[in-house]
Amino acid sequence: MTERPNLIAVLGGTGAEGRGVALRLAHAGYAVVIGSRSAESAAAAAAAIGEAAGSANVSGVANLDAAKRADVVILTVPYAAQMALVCEIKDALAGKILVDATVPLMPPKVARVQLPGGGSAVAAVQEFLGEGVRVVSAFQDVAAHHLQDLAHAVDCDVLVCGDDVPAREVVVAIARDMGLRGIHAGPIANSAAAEALTSLLIAINRRYKVPGGAGIRITGVTEDADSREAR
Ligand SMILES: NC(=O)c1ccc[n+]([C@@H]2O[C@H](COP(=O)([O-])OP(=O)(O)OC[C@H]3O[C@@H](n4cnc5c(N)ncnc54)[C@H](OP(=O)(O)O)[C@@H]3O)[C@@H](O)[C@H]2O)c1
Repeated sequence: MTERPNLIAVLGGTGAEGRGVALRLAHAGYAVVIGSRSAESAAAAAAAIGEAAGSANVSGVANLDAAKRADVVILTVPYAAQMALVCEIKDALAGKILVDATVPLMPPKVARVQLPGGGSAVAAVQEFLGEGVRVVSAFQDVAAHHLQDLAHAVDCDVLVCGDDVPAREVVVAIARDMGLRGIHAGPIANSAAAEALTSLLIAINRRYKVPGGAGIRITGVTEDADSREAR
């Protein structure tokens, strides 16, 4: 049976993507703690998210405190801030699942794929943290605008990559509870493809003026196949 987290931290949950993720988590009944560089900003964001989600279980504290309290930690900060934050919270992550939504966008050319040396922003985090932290990548290709609008269903799949298959299962289940379809997309090295896709989606958004942002759908995967043991 898939573990259900007791408390999920969303670091950078004051921002666009983190607010959307936290809102959908809270709406799905998860207890959520927002993390920020400022405890006051986190508390303010938590109050707004809790009200919008109809949940009394959203709190807000500084990033490190949030990472210490939670059993699953979701990272939603800009690429430029990713590794410094991971260094700050490293000791709090031992044995936990770290879900990283980071896309290595390098402004101003964000519609062009520019993956870092080593191939992937999230794979670099797994390498830095080692096997003691179960790193999973997800949500890179789901636009914040869609996540933040609870009134409509998100027409987009979530690619879930990670070397630890049970950890991936947890994240696929969380995505499902949020009203999204999580797809097992292989080991953490495959996160490079999910990270690269974001720049393609930005280019598509510009060309076709997609309201709220384009997303992706994987065809041919049935519910039945999804419920079989992950490989
Ligand atoms: N926006 C989207 O639609 C979207 C979609 C998919 C994936 N993503 C990815 O999700 C991540 C967050 O995107 P976003 O659009 O939500 O970004 P954002 O709004 O610019 O930033 C998110 C939060 O990160 C924190 N932050 C900013 N600079 C920081 C720094 N130097 N050090 C530590 N924390 C810092 C801020 O929180 P505090 O000031 O409260 O600390 C901010 O509210 C990015 O990696 C992005 O590529 C975004």
